[in-house]
Amino acid sequence: MALYALGDLHLSFQTDKSMDKFGKVWKNHERKIEKYVSRTVGQEDTLVLTGDHSWGRKLPECREDLAFIERLPGRKILLRGNHDMFWDAKKTERLNEEFKGRLFFLQNNFAAYQDYALVGTKGYTFEGPFYLDRRGRIVGWDREREAQAEKLVAREMERLRESFRRAGEAGYRKFILFLHYPPTNILEQTSPFTEIAEEYGVSAVVYSHCHGESRFGDSIRGTFHGIPYLLVSGDYLNFHPALVLP
Ligand SMILES: [Fe+2]
Ligand SMILES: [Fe+2]
Repeated sequence: MALYALGDLHLSFQTDKSMDKFGKVWKNHERKIEKYVSRTVGQEDTLVLTGDHSWGRKLPECREDLAFIERLPGRKILLRGNHDMFWDAKKTERLNEEFKGRLFFLQNNFAAYQDYALVGTKGYTFEGPFYLDRRGRIVGWDREREAQAEKLVAREMERLRESFRRAGEAGYRKFILFLHYPPTNILEQTSPFTEIAEEYGVSAVVYSHCHGESRFGDSIRGTFHGIPYLLVSGDYLNFHPALVLP
């Protein structure tokens, strides 16, 4: 039994949004996902997919993408990504009803893995109220966008607290925290997400969303304040699922 994670599958079986233009790593990426996940993940294992599953805008446009995910081995747990328009956070229970026993949608709830609770939410990392030049120097600041970003972070933190609260209420004391967005932006050392990770002493923080060589280092990778941070974007891992817990 093992716990794996992989993010940003960006499937498009029912839409014409090919990912091929984003570089070689995306060429026939669905086939790579199928091959590498089947090779690594067993039926007894758990696979958390950290968001940006489908390009479909409504559920009927995502059916084939979700069916593809269903066919992957193991227990599949899905997190919301910024592109998952089919998933209204307030209607997560409805999705969980419909996909019962096939897929689990993680939002305002938690999933158990051994004696760990898997908690999570989409998160939010505003890539900048600041504008940077090519050398990374700050050349401008947008107060209005900053205020909007703070609102989004606060809403996501509420959802994440609910996930932790329910897991705690059920008696869990060990947690793995999943986010779609990176926990910090490129200028931050800490954020409300790193703070809550430390408050609950989570065993790991797993996130994705960052695409392309130049963005892989946008946030924390490795151990920070004693907590391991794992980036699991599909293109970063060449679509090999990452082992989170053996
Ligand atoms: Fe993505
Ligand atoms: Fe994303």
